[in-house]
Amino acid sequence: MGKRVLFLIGFMGAGKTSIGEVLAKKMGFFFIDSDKYVEKKEKMSIIKIFKIHGEEYFRKLEKKAINEICDQLNEPAVVSLGAGAVSDRDTVNSMKRIGHIIHIDADFDTLYARLTHTHDRPLAINKSKRCLERLYYERKGDYETIADYTYQNLSESVEETTQKIYNEMRCDDERI
Ligand code: S3P
Repeated sequence: MGKRVLFLIGFMGAGKTSIGEVLAKKMGFFFIDSDKYVEKKEKMSIIKIFKIHGEEYFRKLEKKAINEICDQLNEPAVVSLGAGAVSDRDTVNSMKRIGHIIHIDADFDTLYARLTHTHDRPLAINKSKRCLERLYYERKGDYETIADYTYQNLSESVEETTQKIYNEMRCDDERI
């Protein structure tokens, strides 16, 4: 049997959580979102964790959360990750051991348009377009190197993008 965990990575606003939820339902897999996992454990929102403890502290919680998720998974699952989670090498190696990594991408302008309405992403609030664009391109190379598959989530609906991923994953059962 192949690896029955699908990790969704990609920039903020790419649609990892929305796609992850729908994909998990279609596949009959369990769904976990790393940010929600952290918030539940800490009983605090991500925005508040950043405000009170700072980014470095959040990264430690995030790394611990993903390690716990990887260790505890005993059923097929789709796991959506926060956009900065894969900057940690150990985390990526843990994910590679047990699952496939799927990069959800879109062109920067599309992502930026989605992020202008954001109120709960500390790294996107009050950031200039240029600053976010720099971060996008800084991370893009890593996402591409790490990912086993990349999908564009552009103007299509979440349902369409998810269906595309589902079809390709299911058509070769060895993948999952
Ligand atoms: C972050 C992205 C967020 C969340 C946190 C940090 C980042 O997740 O983990 O605010 O480093 O870009 P989303 O990618 O779900 O927005």
